[in-house]
Amino acid sequence: MADLDLIKSKVDIVELIGQYVPLKKAGRNYKGNCPFHSEKTPSFMVSPDKQIWHCFGCGKGGDVFRFLMEKEGLEFPEALAQLAEKAGVPLQSQSVGEWGNKNLLFNINELAAKFYEKAMEDSTQGRQALNYLVSRGLSRETAKIFRIGYAPTGWDYLIKFLERRGYKLDDIEKAGLAVRRTRGYSDKFHHRLMFPITNASGKVVGFTGRVLNPEDQPKYLNSPETAIFVKGRILYGLSATKEFIQQANYAVLVEGQMDLLSSYQAGVKNAVASSGTALTIDQLKLIRRYGEALVLALDADAAGGEATKRAIELAATEDLNIKVAILGEFKDPDDCIKAGVDVWKRIIDSAIPVIDFYLDHSIKKFGVDTVAGKKKVAAEVLSVISLLVDPVEKDQYIKKLASLLATSTESLYEAMGKLKAPRSAAKTAEESALPDRDPDWLSKQMLGIVLYRSNYYSDFRDRLDQIKWQGWSERVYESLKNCYTGSEFSLDNLLPTLAYDDRVALLELLMVIEEQYATMGEVDIKGELNFYINLIQRRQVKQTLTRLKAEISAAEQSGDQEKLSTLLEQFKHL
Ligand code: GTP
Ligand code: MN
Repeated sequence: MADLDLIKSKVDIVELIGQYVPLKKAGRNYKGNCPFHSEKTPSFMVSPDKQIWHCFGCGKGGDVFRFLMEKEGLEFPEALAQLAEKAGVPLQSQSVGEWGNKNLLFNINELAAKFYEKAMEDSTQGRQALNYLVSRGLSRETAKIFRIGYAPTGWDYLIKFLERRGYKLDDIEKAGLAVRRTRGYSDKFHHRLMFPITNASGKVVGFTGRVLNPEDQPKYLNSPETAIFVKGRILYGLSATKEFIQQANYAVLVEGQMDLLSSYQAGVKNAVASSGTALTIDQLKLIRRYGEALVLALDADAAGGEATKRAIELAATEDLNIKVAILGEFKDPDDCIKAGVDVWKRIIDSAIPVIDFYLDHSIKKFGVDTVAGKKKVAAEVLSVISLLVDPVEKDQYIKKLASLLATSTESLYEAMGKLKAPRSAAKTAEESALPDRDPDWLSKQMLGIVLYRSNYYSDFRDRLDQIKWQGWSERVYESLKNCYTGSEFSLDNLLPTLAYDDRVALLELLMVIEEQYATMGEVDIKGELNFYINLIQRRQVKQTLTRLKAEISAAEQSGDQEKLSTLLEQFKHL
């Protein structure tokens, strides 16, 4: 773990974060608008002394590694590797570990992407593949940006190429590019137009290959899932389009790779493709990182179907606003863009809120002239309205539906109550809408003040020792006690005794506390600590009382006299 501290000491956190967020100096810290939630007044802070960032609005925070993970969608080892490289610190082998394996897979996929790109330029069939792209309206420039390539016909061109560069067959298979056949290994992809799939930071993790010969099956073939390619966590195009999503503050979701390329080329660059699979919560989280809204531009046959409903359900938990683009007569976005770039732009601009979409859709489908039709419309639309988290929004739509169906809002609320319980995704949405009070909040608050004013510790030590510290705070408090010299303890002594993650968490806590108490006088800070200690003591006494009462009545019922008298003794003591 010494690596982490060394890397951190060589990376300027203000400079690094400053590349993503304009930061202004504010006392010892820096302030800016939080890159993880939308806000108008800055509540995002960076402390160069502590090497910590924290947002007072959304509560996210941590060290430089955490920042890169959150911002670039990286796993910890990837963030570590990036920063190690930046800092010029060679990683010790044990911290490389599994990361070393993943890195190997990244390298193989990257090299394969280069191979396919070159095959498109250099071979006759490759040029035919490029011509196919061009015939579908895509420019060479777009093809370059997305690194489109060509997988040659033949048995094992790619394998041979990779082996010549020193990669083992076994690893090529692990990278998803070699397939075991009865007579040895063959390339996974043959005679296909190749779309490299990249993760959010632009590393190639796999491929989709489209047939060039219409008789071949399947039309689109994907790399298998590997240690670096988990389908539900990837959105096609994101690494190229994330900056545009950030600028627009919304993303357009299309189904196909070709739709994505066409949209990008047409100038609607804030798009991503689901590659024809069901959207996952991880994918929505990825989108949410860059924008607050999502416009679904699904193929005409899919809009209004399960895919849309699933998106609403998932989006509720991610605080992502969903709209639906109506493709009308067009089969898919690509088809629509062929009709004109402005047609596509207009369709995106006139996307409608998803509930309104369902209202129109249901009314068209079932009609509202008959009672039976009205019932069906109510059932379908209510099932979607019930997914909304915001009660005001919910109420608005209930009113709208009531007026369209010429019925009362009461009866609609009643009908909604009778719907089968919303699915789990929606349930967690409601739960997560509750103020999310950390159960250890009090413990942390006390610990924070003690860290902030270590000279108070002597005065409060006896009482603090009696508290039942919870979870994380318990561990840290134990370490703190061990650092106490008899007169006070110092943060500098405490920090080296903690595990890396605890240290980061502690510094973040301290940053929060410093900010909270910056303008408060000593008397008041002491008063706060006193108040929290009283509060937690009262709570803990109450909990003990409740427990004792239950145990006493249990002892009474079972007639265990001996136990009863010890319990009563304890009860008196409280
Ligand atoms: P083009 O014919 O190239 O325009 O593709 P499309 O996007 O119009 O294809 P389609 O509407 O048939 O499918 C939508 C998306 O689903 C595709 O872009 C692919 O991402 C995916 N898809 C289509 N066919 C297959 C298949 O056979 N296998 C897999 N894994 N995915 C497919
Ligand atoms: Mn198409």
